[in-house]
Amino acid sequence: MPRPPRYHLTSYGCQMNKLDAELVESRLVGAGYERASHDGEADVVLLNTCSVRQHAEDRVWSRLGVLRAQKRQRPELVVGVLGCMAQEHQRYLLARMPHVDLVVGPSAFGDIDAKVDEARQRNAGRRADDRRGAHVLAVGEGVSGDAIVRDPRVRPHRSQAWVSVMRGCNMPCSYCIVPSTRGPELSRPIPVIVEEVQRLCDDGVTEITLLGQTVNAYGRDLGPGVTLARLLRALHEIPALRRIAFITSHPNFLSAELIDALAELPRVARFLHLPAQSGSDRILKAMRRGYTAARYLARVDQLRAKAPDVVLHSDFIVGYPGESEAEFQASVDLMERVRFAQSYIFKYSPRPGTLAAELVDDVPDAVKAERNARLLEVQERHLASAAQALVGTVQEVLVEGESKVDGRWTGRTVHHRLVHFPSGDRVALGCYLPVRITQALGHSLLGELLAEDHAEVRAGARA
Ligand code: 5AD
Ligand code: SF4
Repeated sequence: MPRPPRYHLTSYGCQMNKLDAELVESRLVGAGYERASHDGEADVVLLNTCSVRQHAEDRVWSRLGVLRAQKRQRPELVVGVLGCMAQEHQRYLLARMPHVDLVVGPSAFGDIDAKVDEARQRNAGRRADDRRGAHVLAVGEGVSGDAIVRDPRVRPHRSQAWVSVMRGCNMPCSYCIVPSTRGPELSRPIPVIVEEVQRLCDDGVTEITLLGQTVNAYGRDLGPGVTLARLLRALHEIPALRRIAFITSHPNFLSAELIDALAELPRVARFLHLPAQSGSDRILKAMRRGYTAARYLARVDQLRAKAPDVVLHSDFIVGYPGESEAEFQASVDLMERVRFAQSYIFKYSPRPGTLAAELVDDVPDAVKAERNARLLEVQERHLASAAQALVGTVQEVLVEGESKVDGRWTGRTVHHRLVHFPSGDRVALGCYLPVRITQALGHSLLGELLAEDHAEVRAGARA
């Protein structure tokens, strides 16, 4: 009997992309494919790509260069470009990259196994020097939502799962390519999501992270009253679920209703990813973010008044076209005001077809890099002092895996902080354990295991 065909899949970009990759893998495994440990062992190499910044694309272009050489040696190899770059660069890929056999946009994954099969068949009958299109192309027109129907048994983590609640994005942010690669917002109905989560829980999941590009705008395409807050309340009824997180939120949709849900629902994770992008009103306006720094801060104050234990995460873009030193300083000021638990800081990268790409990218790269470093320094200072304040507290940690350091395990607190702790008899993947924090490391905490019924845990976890 011939051996089963093997695939190797690499995913770039956001969590949404990583979930897509998981679902693609589950389809391929269901169709009889085996995972290869590297490209050299694979019959099919798939790249699930990201277009959000030039850097993400450059990594894929260089990978494709390596694969071109491999394909000269092994013409039967199938190379597939999936995801946002497939959507964005479909013409270029077809016209200029004859070694790419398969181009599938993020909205066309529904029958990915059949598409891979088709590409293998076409490729098998093709001569190595044939440069004419043997491609299989599947990209959304206006991008619909042909997602994979999930098999809840197939997932990488036993106790944790990502759940997509919506695809696409309707926001007009001037710098962002996502609306064009992923299309308009498309929310899944509450009962469909609850059913999926229930089935995941029946199979051992206790922590879910709901995913959407603007997750707190969830439901507005489904009619009045369908909101993230209502979805959270519905999910909160599932007894097996101990943690419910959601990313990423847009400041404009941080409603009083959502703040109340965060304040009232104890099993909703205590962190909120609420990207500010900038602290300068002129830049925010140019970015078409729809809020001012004062309005952002007012929302944060409202949240903190009702749910003071929720920590905030942010994204910032430095070096947006025309950003002056004073405008950059406004981002520093905003960061100083809010004191985020964590921030991702990006150098502005012009994306073709976006509104901002029509402006001159006039902040030199060296200045972008310097601003990036300065903002990061502020973030690191805040992180270090928050971590120091946790030393001595007791946190409930969900065990996620063994640490790189021998004899240690790692897990996360309800605030999404990473904790390492020495192993013990009771430690197993997916356990919730009380850990006393003993030391603040750079980006993580060190702790010691306590007896399971430790009284401080509930209070400590909320500290
Ligand atoms: N350049 C730099 N950063 C960007 N982001 C989105 N588009 C760009 C761009 N063109 C950042 C934003 C967003 C995160 C996912 O990526 O900060 O929140
Ligand atoms: Fe990258 Fe955005 Fe596509 Fe995610 S949605 S893969 S961040 S371009």
